[in-house]
Amino acid sequence: MKKVLVATEKPFASAAVAAIRKVVEDAGYTLALLEKYTAKEDLLKAVADVDALIVRSDIVDREVLDAAKNLKIVVRAGAGYDNIDLTACTEKGVVAMNTPGQNSNAVAELAFAMMLYMARGGFDGGTGTELRGKTLGLHAYGNVGKYMAKIAHGFGMETYAFDPFVSKEAMEADGVKPMEKVEDLYRTCQYVSLHIPANEQTKKSIGFALMSLMPKGATLVNTARKEVIDEEGLLKMFAERADFKYLSDIEPACKADIEANYPKRFFFTPKKMGAQTSEANNNAGIAAARQIVDFFEKGDIRYKVNK
Ligand code: 3PG
Repeated sequence: MKKVLVATEKPFASAAVAAIRKVVEDAGYTLALLEKYTAKEDLLKAVADVDALIVRSDIVDREVLDAAKNLKIVVRAGAGYDNIDLTACTEKGVVAMNTPGQNSNAVAELAFAMMLYMARGGFDGGTGTELRGKTLGLHAYGNVGKYMAKIAHGFGMETYAFDPFVSKEAMEADGVKPMEKVEDLYRTCQYVSLHIPANEQTKKSIGFALMSLMPKGATLVNTARKEVIDEEGLLKMFAERADFKYLSDIEPACKADIEANYPKRFFFTPKKMGAQTSEANNNAGIAAARQIVDFFEKGDIRYKVNK
């Protein structure tokens, strides 16, 4: 009987776990749970006899893969798979997948929640600003970017996007103005929201050179990954541009410096929580479980992300 492990430092809502269990048990497999673990040792032990693994941002490195002797498939219930060592997966014959789009609306809603909070001065009762009529730049136009555009249009924002992997026509069909150069996106938009993955090309790619192009009243929103930010550049931007604000659900390493020196110009959630809604937990968790069953039963590798 196949064994599926859900290993989540940051657990899914219990209803999502019940739904995952149903998919897994209906297929005749067993489900094991490792939630809120704090030591890697616990993960290494738990993966020892499993055929399939479902994770969130949990690190699946070579050591974990070495310990998981029977593992055939690991599914990241979510979008970004920078937490999985894809090279090691391929070497070991393990299929790695993600569940694209399943938690994207939750991330987009959080980005807007932070934008509204900051536009209204942290709800301090003073005079704030509106989103209506402002320019929003989507740095990458994938699943989250698309939800951002829909919400932005509801707010009456003018929406732009830069994404070399998405056609101009696809953006225009959504009422989004395509930008050919990333610099133009930053030059045009009062709000820029990051939706790029963290990889060798994007790490530290958002620095002072790009941020400083933003017009007066610039707000950078990061619900992507902290690794994409060049934090030296971020601090320089805070120091040199009194109008600049930064919103993120991933606390930067330089958080203490920002908190001490630039009050009211930042907002950080205490934990990475873009995908923390019961809907997103359900969607991503169930999709992950189904993808595992479809992989074993039908050889379906549609969402495979390693070579
Ligand atoms: C993702 O890549 O899907 C999001 O960043 C959500 O990550 P999480 O599952 O760790 O909340």
